[in-house]
Amino acid sequence: MNYGELRLRIRPFLMLLAIPAIMCACHSASENINDVEEQITTLISKMTLKEKIAMIHANSSFTSAGVERLGIPELVTSDGPHGVRPEHGRDWVLDSAANDAGTYLPTGNLLAATWNPEIGYAFGAVLGSEAKERGKDVILGPGINVMRSPLCGRNFEYLSEDPFLISRMAIGYIRGVQDQDVSACVKHYAANNEEVDRNAVDVLMSERALREIYLPGFKAAVTEADVNTVMGSYNKFRGQYATHNDYLVNKILKGEWKFRGVLMSDWGAVHNTIEAVKNGTDLEMGTDLSMLPKPDYNKFFMADSLLGLVSKGVVPETLIDEKVRRILRIMFKTKMLGKNKREAGSRNTPEHQATALKIAEEGIVLLKNEGEVLPLKRAAIKTVAVIGENANRENAMGGGSSQVRAKYEITPLQGIKKLLGGGVSVSYSRGYKIVKNQQADATLISEAVAAAKKADVAILVVGWTHGYDYAVWDDNAYDAEGVDKPNLDMPFGQNELIKAVLAANPNTVVVLSGGGPIDVRQWVNKAPAILEMWYAGMEGGNALAKILFGEVNPSGKLPMTFPQKLEDSPAHKFGDFPGVNNVARYKDDIYVGYRYFDTYKVTPQFAFGHGLSYTSFKYSDVKTRKEKDSVVVHLKIKNTGKVNGAEVVQLYVKQEKSAEKRPEKELKAFKKVYLATGESRDIELRLGKDAFQYFSEKNHRWLAEPGMFDLLIGSSSRDIRQRTSISYLEN
Ligand code: NOJ
Repeated sequence: MNYGELRLRIRPFLMLLAIPAIMCACHSASENINDVEEQITTLISKMTLKEKIAMIHANSSFTSAGVERLGIPELVTSDGPHGVRPEHGRDWVLDSAANDAGTYLPTGNLLAATWNPEIGYAFGAVLGSEAKERGKDVILGPGINVMRSPLCGRNFEYLSEDPFLISRMAIGYIRGVQDQDVSACVKHYAANNEEVDRNAVDVLMSERALREIYLPGFKAAVTEADVNTVMGSYNKFRGQYATHNDYLVNKILKGEWKFRGVLMSDWGAVHNTIEAVKNGTDLEMGTDLSMLPKPDYNKFFMADSLLGLVSKGVVPETLIDEKVRRILRIMFKTKMLGKNKREAGSRNTPEHQATALKIAEEGIVLLKNEGEVLPLKRAAIKTVAVIGENANRENAMGGGSSQVRAKYEITPLQGIKKLLGGGVSVSYSRGYKIVKNQQADATLISEAVAAAKKADVAILVVGWTHGYDYAVWDDNAYDAEGVDKPNLDMPFGQNELIKAVLAANPNTVVVLSGGGPIDVRQWVNKAPAILEMWYAGMEGGNALAKILFGEVNPSGKLPMTFPQKLEDSPAHKFGDFPGVNNVARYKDDIYVGYRYFDTYKVTPQFAFGHGLSYTSFKYSDVKTRKEKDSVVVHLKIKNTGKVNGAEVVQLYVKQEKSAEKRPEKELKAFKKVYLATGESRDIELRLGKDAFQYFSEKNHRWLAEPGMFDLLIGSSSRDIRQRTSISYLEN
């Protein structure tokens, strides 16, 4: 094997992007806060009530009004989250003639699989820059809802099942966007963990689950990344719609976390004028689709009826002023107003495309590699059989509101052909058809088998899909807004195809794509090599080819557990997904993802944090030191293999004995480390006091029970390489 060819190219990439000393959130030349607040007060004092009300509800599919005579522009929003959405005109008509093709980044699940917050920043910076170039002020991302069930149709947009990983990645993303003077919008607040019935479902969960699992990402977005906007979700929470939920919005978001930005509704998520106005909704967005083709935005809950209520003195005008203030505040912050001018953005630059490639290279996960089938040995290969409809399919326009018109999209087939050049013969067989209710197709399978038999290697690209028709928002699909998967079974007869191809040519690599876990039990033991490529963006095919042929050493890690079967997932084990009669009781409580699998000793198919490399790493010399409330952990990590590579060092904390229930272990720190062959590095991981705490329902606050804690350090949640324990007593 020619290991010399293998290179991880992280350093040149970082230089290319000139990522600022990451996460410094450099809000350059921002105006003095007091001056800004005074200017806002002056502006509000000059506005009529009608003008104020016009600012707090949509006036087109993605905008809300400004006040022209006072120089206040419209606020222009756009999806989000992995590219800037195509233009939909003012009234929801996709504008096919618009100049709106842009960079299609990998989806959120792949981003999280990089376990690299700096990559999160680079992702956000591309998005912010392209949004700005397109005249957008707010990008509707990141989507950070917890992957409670593998069935959720929007998991592909989301990040993880783990609140700590979600937080770190979201912070990077938000700072990346906002350093471009564009507002990020963290969504959907909160407990929007399923799509079926999302408009009606009432989510009931314990306070502990809320605080420990479902809120930390939002809290980090507000308190650490200073996110400018938050989107309230469609569902109800404890009986009241989330977007105007007194507890979620007034008490927690604006009270406890002191959020000073804008809480906008999801599109059409407001249901009641008084509740919305009193419970903290600042901006009502959406279009009542029944009003199309000419929606009447004055009929919104926060439009004419609100005007009437304020005029009659039922609602105090100060409440409206407060909402307008928040909108003006983010306008100043993003230089839409004030003395500083926004710099121009850019679109479709080689740097943006290089970033899309780099993210994909870092987020594709090597799940299995027995007998070192991978990387493929190019010099020894003359024929390659690429099989599967997912190999030849573009994904950018699928999935719902996150659709992107990609400047281009390299499919797996194109990427493989391009990398191999003319010297190798690459055949393509469709293998299965992405058609609703499609069963195994004997003719397509026998064509694929014939191609696989003739080839030195077969590469199957299979898995989920955004929809049956490219470019159509398909609400019968698997990874799409508004739907949840019916189960984890491979659709379209793919199991039959995979088994037949594996029997025809044992030198077969299975590449999964899509929103996450899929049931692989029928063939997993027979497949020597498996990769998860998610939806890898416009450069996905190139990234995949580089990993297959060893030009890039895989370094992605799973941001969610792959269960063996659906019933093993806690939300399903406890039987309340998607809920009964529009009520979802989260009986799985704090045992989401690996917290459940580890505590209840259920063996997953692939564990949270799992991801293989073409090299090997040795962990040693763990030492700990206390610093006030924190614990600093040092360890040595060495690349002991023959190629350069990156490892994600994961630190899990486990309380040995506790009066309160605690999960078996919880992720509390991680670091991605790039090491040349033979290189070793000392790394430091910090555990703040929150790493030891749980949310006490009795005391309604975070606290740590004193005692012994195990620190488990490893390459995945189930591959712990070093452990130590400390006694911890909160000051
Ligand atoms: C509804 C989706 O839930 C949300 O994520 C999106 O940003 C809005 N529609 C706008 O398209």
